[in-house]
Amino acid sequence: MNIRFAFSRKILAASLAVAAVGALALPALSATPAETVKLRQETMKQLGGHMKAIKSFAMEGQGSAEDVAKRAGEIGEIAARIPSLFPEGTGMDEVLDPKNGAKPEIWLDWDNFLKARASLEAQSRALAAAAGGGDQAAIRAAFQNLGKNGCGNCHKPYRIKLEK
Ligand code: HEC
Repeated sequence: MNIRFAFSRKILAASLAVAAVGALALPALSATPAETVKLRQETMKQLGGHMKAIKSFAMEGQGSAEDVAKRAGEIGEIAARIPSLFPEGTGMDEVLDPKNGAKPEIWLDWDNFLKARASLEAQSRALAAAAGGGDQAAIRAAFQNLGKNGCGNCHKPYRIKLEK
């Protein structure tokens, strides 16, 4: 048998094996801890963007209730992804990034952290329902509740706000 041919078959088999392993690994698992920290900060910033736009409608009537409903839905989707953005080994004491503000308490207190996440999802649903009704006063109340019991409820115990 041609040696070159046998050699390339071996390489092909090896690269297929690598591809199979790669396909099994979930993106979140293949990311390094530092990459995960970055991704979760970007994701949190998206939450910030949604809240800013929702606030404009809730407080000043700018935009539309439909847009608020859509953004509330997206907040709910992000809320569902929060656990995967906080794998063990990505706390501020472990990934030594001066921008990492994830307190170690998150993992010492994981069940409560998950409750805070669930609260965000519940509040986002309540806001979506209020937005569906179209009443600005109800939307404002749901928005304020979401900020307090959705975001603030988790940030207070689990996040250190750092200078950027
Ligand atoms: C279940 C907990 C939890 C909830 C709920 C939550 N956050 Fe966060 N958030 C965190 C933690 C922890 C950090 C610090 C993450 C880091 O530095 O890696 C953070 C960081 C942030 C940041 C800073 C991102 C950066 O660039 O460093 C923003 C902005 C933010 N959150 C907005 C929000 C908003 C708005 C909401 C509500 C709609 C929200 N978060 C809900 C836990 C939460």
